[in-house]
Amino acid sequence: MKKLFALLLALIMVVGLIACGAEKPVEEVEEVVEEVEETVEEVVEEVEETVEGGNLVGVAMPTKDLQRWIQDGENMKAQLEAAGYTVDLQYAANDIATQVSQIENMIANGCEVLVIASIDGEALGSVLDQAKAAEIPVIAYDRLIMGSDAVSYYATFDNWNVGVKQGEYIVEALDLANAPEGTTYNIEYITGDPGDNNINFFFDGAISVLQPYVDAGVLVTPSGQTEKAVVATPGWATDAAQARFESILASYYADGTQLDAVLASNDSTALGVANALASSYTGEYPVLTGQDCDIANVPNLLAGTQAMSVFKDTRTLAAKVVEMVDALMQGAEPPINDTETYDNGTGIIPSFLCEPVSCDINNYVEILIDSGYYTADQIGG
Ligand code: BGC
Repeated sequence: MKKLFALLLALIMVVGLIACGAEKPVEEVEEVVEEVEETVEEVVEEVEETVEGGNLVGVAMPTKDLQRWIQDGENMKAQLEAAGYTVDLQYAANDIATQVSQIENMIANGCEVLVIASIDGEALGSVLDQAKAAEIPVIAYDRLIMGSDAVSYYATFDNWNVGVKQGEYIVEALDLANAPEGTTYNIEYITGDPGDNNINFFFDGAISVLQPYVDAGVLVTPSGQTEKAVVATPGWATDAAQARFESILASYYADGTQLDAVLASNDSTALGVANALASSYTGEYPVLTGQDCDIANVPNLLAGTQAMSVFKDTRTLAAKVVEMVDALMQGAEPPINDTETYDNGTGIIPSFLCEPVSCDINNYVEILIDSGYYTADQIGG
């Protein structure tokens, strides 16, 4: 604005000089003309920046604590920038108030689409109302944002299938279908943050596979901790998972009782379980599940102290979200492949679900290294 003012002033001076005609020396006129040219250039730059701002995409990620979110954010930023967009990528250190204020800033800065991986799917209400009022489409990323009609689309993995794969792995590893009459297997459960809608899919998907064996009395839980709310882990925190399992192991397995399986919904909780097992369990290692194929968990996969993880290729998800953003920017329909599964309380949110893949020691080279996701050096493979 100031520059525009300067430009006007300079123009007035030029006109004045011309009006004075031959009375002004040529050098003085040339000087003013030069000044006008410089100011014009600056104004053009400013206008260009404003237009670029019109390409702004806000990407709000929950935390840098977990490797997967760093990868998600970086992948998306790189791909959106390659497609010509400007990206405001923010991480909120798992703090809801920080995430809310980051989103407020993105709206104030004129972003045209918001991509949000929420910390707590229930906690974003009013800032999303602001987005809706400003007609900014919101794409819920990986985790569904609940109770808000400002959510336009949802991009994630098939979260139910993540749980199914974990449940199936346990069934096959223990060969539960052929369990001899009267044999029982001990299983304990752990899932993630109660504010993350995904746990309903991870946990319930796995239980849908395990329940027949629970009903038949083949799978039993010595701790009695089977309810989702009881086996949840605030913030998906590794230390909380470890503390809970240390207490379970001390109370129910210290007498030599064999623990056969642990259904862990993801790698950060599986890591806590593995730490607890390493410090306070001497029996045969249980079949331990996970999700994400975090670098921190790969050594356990190789050592056999975590049986499997579910690989979710964040590059695929990022690419899908870039397609969605691009379509929204062009006023077109974003790609979706599911219009039935994800109801956020205000109705079904049109979704794109990417496919998760089961990963263990037998296929990790192909999935993690050959695909270029990690280098062999990164995971020591
Ligand atoms: C994601 C998982 C992740 C977990 C903890 C979930 O919403 O889907 O991939 O392990 O959050 O960050």
